[in-house]
Amino acid sequence: MKSKQKLKIGIIGLGVGEQHIGGYHKHPACEVVALCDFSEEKQTMAREKYPQMRVTAHADDLLSDPAINVISIASYDNYHYEQIVQAIDNDKHLFVEKPLCLHEKEAKHIHALLCQKPHLKLSSNLILRKSPRFIDLKQRIEARSMGKVFYVEGDYNYGRIHKILEGWRGQLDFYSIVYGGGIHMIDLLQWLTEDQITEVSAYGTNIATQETNFQYNDTVVSILQFKSGMIGKMTANFSCTYPHFHKLAIYGTNATFENGWPHANWYHSRDPNVPPLSIQTEYPGTHKGDLIYSFIQSILSGLPAEVTKEEIFTALAVCFAIEKATSQAGSVVVEYLN
Ligand SMILES: NC(=O)c1ccc[n+]([C@@H]2O[C@H](COP(=O)([O-])OP(=O)(O)OC[C@H]3O[C@@H](n4cnc5c(N)ncnc54)[C@H](O)[C@@H]3O)[C@@H](O)[C@H]2O)c1
Repeated sequence: MKSKQKLKIGIIGLGVGEQHIGGYHKHPACEVVALCDFSEEKQTMAREKYPQMRVTAHADDLLSDPAINVISIASYDNYHYEQIVQAIDNDKHLFVEKPLCLHEKEAKHIHALLCQKPHLKLSSNLILRKSPRFIDLKQRIEARSMGKVFYVEGDYNYGRIHKILEGWRGQLDFYSIVYGGGIHMIDLLQWLTEDQITEVSAYGTNIATQETNFQYNDTVVSILQFKSGMIGKMTANFSCTYPHFHKLAIYGTNATFENGWPHANWYHSRDPNVPPLSIQTEYPGTHKGDLIYSFIQSILSGLPAEVTKEEIFTALAVCFAIEKATSQAGSVVVEYLN
């Protein structure tokens, strides 16, 4: 494909956003033409490493550039909403880091704007779906190798407490570990089981960080009711003394899957003398740009991306309900936008 026909990409935020570059360049129809970061250090790095790309401190330079077709938003969580709105106003397709936004009213507004422009594609980096181990698990569930799934557990063990104590996350006016990490597990559980969470209850604690400047819950546990009658539990644990890990257990009527390091276990008997089978598919085995190819394909073909707009709003709606449930007694019904 000739350069002038290619989709022109701009990326805002060069932390995880830098890894988007490789994702776009795996697709022959893409050319990353502009990078934005308000850190001078990052700009210097970007000019040296990517001399063919324009580098700017101002997101507006990309968002208002008519030559740019696609924007990746990998800025701090609190900037996503305003950048998304501007991008939609200027007719750009969007790949947005999770969480899409931080407030229900913002999600409703983005949803309404996208409904007015159905030609625009939105996807998000709910990357656990690309882990070979979880793809393998999904295939087993689909093949009904586990029988009927009746209970699921996902613990997002963050293992990087310094990021909430020292970085931007703890300095925002509002930060949620459920939106920042738990969302990966919520999406994974719904994607694996093709079920939808309808109601949640939740508790949060900040015992581990109460002597610090981090002013939000550092650990949240939620109980989940699914549409099918299945039940679940999801924990976002940002304070754990534990390496970054997705602790996942899926209980079916015929078998149980339990993620482990380095291998997962597949229990197929209640007899304590029968050892579980070892599942050795790669984990996590993901690159942060892995979902971008299908996002670009969705722009070119009109077919759904691996992570669709509807699925992004669905995961976010569950997270909003969990966050709400931590501050009130009793359960909260998930309010879906789709
Ligand atoms: N999908 C995933 O697995 C995953 C992993 C990590 C982070 N994230 C998300 O990516 C986003 C960025 O997180 P990170 O870990 O890369 O942070 P980071 O601090 O490592 O990098 C963010 C970069 O963006 C720049 N930046 C922030 N806001 C900006 C703005 N408005 N304009 C220009 N530059 C801006 C900062 O200067 C910084 O260099 C967050 O929303 C986070 O939740 C997603």
